[in-house]
Amino acid sequence: MKPHTRNLSLPSGLTVLLLAVTLCPSFSSDVLSTTSAPTPPEPPSIPETGSYNVTNNGTACLLASMGLQLNITYTSRSQGKAVQVIINLQPNMTNATGSCEPDTATIKLINENTNLTFLFHSNSSTNKYYLGGLSLSIALPDMTQPLVVSNTSLDYLQGTLGYSYMCHQELILPVGEKFSLNTFHLRVQPFNVSGQEFGAAEECQLDKDDMLIPIAVGAALAGLVLVVLLAYLIGRKRSHAGYQTI
Ligand SMILES: *[C@@H]1O[C@H](CO)[C@@H](O)[C@H](O)[C@H]1NC(C)=O
Ligand SMILES: *[C@@H]1O[C@H](CO)[C@@H](O)[C@H](O)[C@H]1NC(C)=O
Ligand SMILES: *[C@@H]1O[C@H](CO)[C@@H](O)[C@H](O)[C@H]1NC(C)=O
Ligand SMILES: *[C@@H]1O[C@H](CO)[C@@H](O)[C@H](O)[C@H]1NC(C)=O
Ligand SMILES: *[C@@H]1O[C@H](CO)[C@@H](O)[C@H](O)[C@H]1NC(C)=O
Repeated sequence: MKPHTRNLSLPSGLTVLLLAVTLCPSFSSDVLSTTSAPTPPEPPSIPETGSYNVTNNGTACLLASMGLQLNITYTSRSQGKAVQVIINLQPNMTNATGSCEPDTATIKLINENTNLTFLFHSNSSTNKYYLGGLSLSIALPDMTQPLVVSNTSLDYLQGTLGYSYMCHQELILPVGEKFSLNTFHLRVQPFNVSGQEFGAAEECQLDKDDMLIPIAVGAALAGLVLVVLLAYLIGRKRSHAGYQTI
């Protein structure tokens, strides 16, 4: 199963609103200022990017830099029913520990009420690594009981040993029915870290797709400039030739 991805255009509601406000000035005063209109839920903010490393005898052996967002479903004590919430991990309140072995590497992020563990595997015969497991244990005051979700048959963030895996776009990593992890501005290197620094990056397909748009626009603009320049040069040559015949 591939990580899901989200359409990254403007939220459609916002687009419609902007359109409506532009097309019909009275709409803004009708809708935007009436307090009776139900306010749509705020889109969750993008989590702050944290830098989380695992060290072995003082040397970094796993590097990770990412913004993390938990999407969880639990039974609410106050509402007496299942609720779905989005929680951004705060890097300054989160500690990282872990371990580095030749074939597996783990990083455990811990804060007041959350334990989130990443389990990476390496495969020397294919020269690849991947995120094979994610476990979450979270205990919020409003939960009737702590939520514990674990899945060790994942196959996410596949990279080549010696390289880091990079994805600036949001990745949605489903873990179980009640938990999926959203990552932002992610860069990880679980194996073969040398010199305390990330190795060359392998970029996710989403980022590559995103690059195609500016490249296409750039190429189109360059083409246009070329056409105008050619037209100008040809025109100049013609008028030059014209002068000489007079
Ligand atoms: C959270 O998960 C639910 C269902 O699993 C999904 O419908 C929703 O879009 C997700 N929200 C975010 C912000 O990822
Ligand atoms: C390594 O990859 C090969 C080829 O995909 C596979 O057959 C093998 O089981 C893998 N080994 C481990 C330890 O995952
Ligand atoms: C997180 O792990 C620590 C130590 O392993 C444990 O004491 C704590 O209860 C765990 N927290 C949650 C929410 O499971
Ligand atoms: C673990 O994740 C895989 C891939 O997303 C999914 O097919 C499988 O159902 C999950 N297992 C559990 C126990 O949720
Ligand atoms: C983790 O390692 C990176 C790269 O060496 C470094 O820039 C960053 O400051 C380190 N972060 C922590 C929390 O040690």
